[in-house]
Amino acid sequence: MALEVIILAAGKGTRMKSAKPKVLHELAGQSLVARVVETAQKLAPDNIHLVYGHGGEQIINAFKDQPVNPVEQVEQKGTGHAVAQVLPHIDSDNKVLILYGDVPLIETETLQRLIDKASSGFSLLTVGLPNPQGYGRIVRDTDNNVKAIVEHKDASEEQLMISEVNTGVMCVRGDFLKRWLPELSSDNSQGEYYLTDIVAMAESEEVCIQTEQPAETFEVEGINDRLQLSRLERIHQRKQAQYLMANGITLMDPARFDLRGTLNTGTDIVIDINTVIEGDVTLGSNVKIGPNCVIRNASIGDGVEILANSLIEESAVENDCIIGPYARLRPGTQLKSKAKVGNFVEIKKSTVGMGSKINHLSYIGDTSVGENANIGAGTITCNYDGVNKFQTEIGDGAFIGSNSSLIAPVKIGNNATTGAGSAINKDIPGENLGIARAKQRNIDTWQRPIKKP
Ligand code: UD1
Ligand code: MG
Repeated sequence: MALEVIILAAGKGTRMKSAKPKVLHELAGQSLVARVVETAQKLAPDNIHLVYGHGGEQIINAFKDQPVNPVEQVEQKGTGHAVAQVLPHIDSDNKVLILYGDVPLIETETLQRLIDKASSGFSLLTVGLPNPQGYGRIVRDTDNNVKAIVEHKDASEEQLMISEVNTGVMCVRGDFLKRWLPELSSDNSQGEYYLTDIVAMAESEEVCIQTEQPAETFEVEGINDRLQLSRLERIHQRKQAQYLMANGITLMDPARFDLRGTLNTGTDIVIDINTVIEGDVTLGSNVKIGPNCVIRNASIGDGVEILANSLIEESAVENDCIIGPYARLRPGTQLKSKAKVGNFVEIKKSTVGMGSKINHLSYIGDTSVGENANIGAGTITCNYDGVNKFQTEIGDGAFIGSNSSLIAPVKIGNNATTGAGSAINKDIPGENLGIARAKQRNIDTWQRPIKKP
């Protein structure tokens, strides 16, 4: 039996107090609903149907390049009504897994267990909660078979004592949904078409409902407000930190480490506090990262040291480089092995050759720097004339004197030198000294100004 997935995401999320639909808010850098889609994709379903309503255009845009079938629920008349919108798209012979766009941390393994249990045609994910307030209660008969789900608002005193609750996640055969959903009524305290009422229909047809539980409760927790979002964010970050530590990474404080994406790692990496890793990042072995660094979509080679307060994005750093403190590598930066980039240095779309040093206060953009060059403090590549960008080439072994302005396009030859304070706008051949600054005069009759009376 093939699998189809329905993700319910039509609710507004009033309590988020946001112009953005709730399911597009982000947890660890990814929208809640994108997370659910990604988890669903790992189950290799034939189809993923996304029921949207509020903020429809934003949701459609977010998934326009993805294999997701958006289905509109114009009016939100309840979870049963939401699933019913997808019925025309569903194959009767398939198992249908129902997920929620605002329950972001559900695990693939839990869902796989639930799907495996749906051989009778119906399985339900339930969980025992110490405080079941607000949830639909699972009502069982004396043989422990599930008989019904009663919503909190419709439950009797006795039913309110039940601690086993409906997570909302279920797996049901397509033909059952097609038969039962049109039969739902909205005759209940909320005037909604409850998906949960199909449980009683299954019971009346003697379809046995199997139940399964998540490994951990947070998997089935939904998000309604920003406080709950922050709670699940912390749970998720703690899990990621624990995974990394179990794989040979030292986190100086796992509570002050954030990963918003994927991190591939070697071993014996030490990461100091307040590091944020975003997008796809690779860290080689023996990398050391100082406090307050941000690394986004970058690969960092073995033995690299990144000192405090550095920002690295869309860059490739080879082995044994030293970066920072306070360095900024912008997109398109490549540091070859053993390069050094020091404090208050910004590099953009440039390659820095093996062993070259840019140690202090520089802007290097659209530049290729050869091997073992030394770029003095305060060197600026003037790569932009206000309209166009131009390239600078700095050869192997070049020595750029402090406070040089290299006015692009310009080439500095191998082992060439620039005099400190030069504005260089002509190529310098290899081995030459290029100097372009006003000559010094000393005035021996000079009198210091004196304060006016
Ligand atoms: C639902 C269950 C309840 C369960 C609880 C778990 C029903 C009737 N009740 O209650 O048994 O314990 O989840 O959290 O199913 N949605 C739509 N369209 C709609 C209505 C809802 O897409 O017309 C989406 C919402 O965006 C939300 C989800 O379905 O993500 C759940 O809806 P909600 O009304 O919050 O259900 P609960 O009252 O929490
Ligand atoms: Mg409701």
